[in-house]
Amino acid sequence: MSTPAIEIEHLSKVYPYGFLNLKKKRSLEDLSMRVDTGEVFGFLGPNGAGKSTTIKLLMRLIFPDGGSARILGKSIDDVSMHQETGYLPEQPYFYDYLTAAEVLNYFARFHGLTATDRHTRVENMLKKVGLETAGKIQLRKYSKGMLQRVGLAQAILHDPQVVILDEPMSGLDPLGRREVRDIILELKKEGRAVLFSTHILSDAEMLCDRVGVIVGGKLRGVGTPGEMVGIKTQGMEILFEVAEGKNLPLLAKATRTGERYRVQMPEEELYGAVDQLRGAGARIHSVTQIKPTLEEFFMNLVEADRAQANAVEVSGK
Ligand SMILES: Nc1ncnc2c1ncn2[C@@H]1O[C@H](COP(=O)(O)OP(=O)(O)OP(=O)(O)O)[C@@H](O)[C@H]1O
Ligand SMILES: [Mg+2]
Repeated sequence: MSTPAIEIEHLSKVYPYGFLNLKKKRSLEDLSMRVDTGEVFGFLGPNGAGKSTTIKLLMRLIFPDGGSARILGKSIDDVSMHQETGYLPEQPYFYDYLTAAEVLNYFARFHGLTATDRHTRVENMLKKVGLETAGKIQLRKYSKGMLQRVGLAQAILHDPQVVILDEPMSGLDPLGRREVRDIILELKKEGRAVLFSTHILSDAEMLCDRVGVIVGGKLRGVGTPGEMVGIKTQGMEILFEVAEGKNLPLLAKATRTGERYRVQMPEEELYGAVDQLRGAGARIHSVTQIKPTLEEFFMNLVEADRAQANAVEVSGK
């Protein structure tokens, strides 16, 4: 097996807070996970879950209270890992009066590219993120979506194998989100590993090979979006049409929209329901499995976490 793109082992981070910083808040608790090469991994969690904390730890912007991490097999203590890693911060800030080309050129210097290399690299990057015509405009005139694309270009400028993006779609409209999604898919096609954090579940569902769900500083589960959603199915749904006045007990449970009825039932009642429909000469349009969306899965975890926190508070009094 090839070396994983990112390996995180028992990472934890505590922030001091309150009077004289005497209290401690655990932002990350014993987090272990792995992102494989060539994989798009979604780091999914609500506000304050610990996503940015994890990412900043990986980027060495803050330091852990325990645990370790490796990028492409190299400890993150080894600063050379920055050459292999691209990073888009949660709120990238660029000097407003520069153009996108100037900003990228500036970053390219950091990566030690020669003047001619810089020029072609910057041109290519602008093209890649769809800013080739806007490259000479000052950033203060950019829309939020365009700025985000400058951030992405900056993150991948030095051709890193591992790309870490903190909320790359946040604040973007559906079109902007799609553009960012396309860029991420392109990175995957090129064989790079992408770890991105998000609380937009549909983006994670659409893009990710695997997702890790983090709530309250703890990793609650890792799997394919399908596996995460498939944790429990919620029964079956039948969509059908039937003539008026038929004796069909099922109708009592059904909801009607126009000519069509929709009825939900536990899986074991499906055949009985189909028999009833057959008996009444109904026309069945579809039989589908009701699956919780990632959103519901996520909500359940958040609620469970709140319930647990309340229980601890109560018992602590
Ligand atoms: N510098 C800090 N000092 C004290 N507490 C902090 C600090 N940075 C983060 N925290 C706390 O750590 C927890 C995790 O924060 P983090 O920024 O990692 O969350 P997140 O998952 O990125 O959330 P969001 O979706 O809002 O960006 C939060 O409860 C936050 O209040
Ligand atoms: Mg964050």
